[in-house]
Amino acid sequence: MRRVEIYPSILSADFSRLGSEISDAEAAGADGIHIDVMDGHFVPNLTLGPLVVRSVRPVSGLPYWAHLMISDPLRFAGDFREAGVDGLTIHPETGTDPVSAVERIRGLGAGVGLALRPETPIDALEPVIGILDRVLILTVHPGFGGQTILKDVIGKIRRLRDRLEPLPKRPLIEVDGGIDPETTGSVIRAGADVLIAGQAVFGSPNRSEAVRKLRKAIEGALSGPGPEAH
Ligand code: DX5
Ligand code: ZN
Repeated sequence: MRRVEIYPSILSADFSRLGSEISDAEAAGADGIHIDVMDGHFVPNLTLGPLVVRSVRPVSGLPYWAHLMISDPLRFAGDFREAGVDGLTIHPETGTDPVSAVERIRGLGAGVGLALRPETPIDALEPVIGILDRVLILTVHPGFGGQTILKDVIGKIRRLRDRLEPLPKRPLIEVDGGIDPETTGSVIRAGADVLIAGQAVFGSPNRSEAVRKLRKAIEGALSGPGPEAH
């Protein structure tokens, strides 16, 4: 039975009450929390560091995954792990060697993911494709929440799913950017396993209803033909 998870992105949360925003997402049925880390250099925006992660770690037992949109991810990987993240996703476009990144992050005892910007081909994953836990496909240009999904990226998700399917230990496919109840069907049919949703969850005053709507869209997509039906 195929399962699709929902990871709300705190980028769209109210940071004046970040702890209770995360508790709300957990109570609403989220499967994990997505933490966008931006350095104003790799992407044109700034967000947060390990200090903030540490302060919100105790509020929830959900897995926390940090999406490091920073130029030197390995410099800070240990600090984020110590602050309590369960997984770290980095960008190969930073010039970071994927093999060293996987070794280093695994050495910290964390899950490891690679994230690809919309224009980066999936070939960039090849050196480590069989040993990743997750691949994050950005479905918008990174930097800001609340953008519209780039439809061109749907084909890339499908190609990635086809590439990953034969692997003995297949990494999960995360999709990030412009995910809402309307766009959920197309990314799931293409092969997504984890939906990252900022505005679609925290942009709604009622988080339980927002997560319920996403689950309903997931069920609708899973009951139709998907990658496993091919
Ligand atoms: C984009 C970030 C996303 C962002 C998604 O740079 O990586 O995680 O929070 O936000 P929405 O779901 O609002 O497009
Ligand atoms: Zn993200």
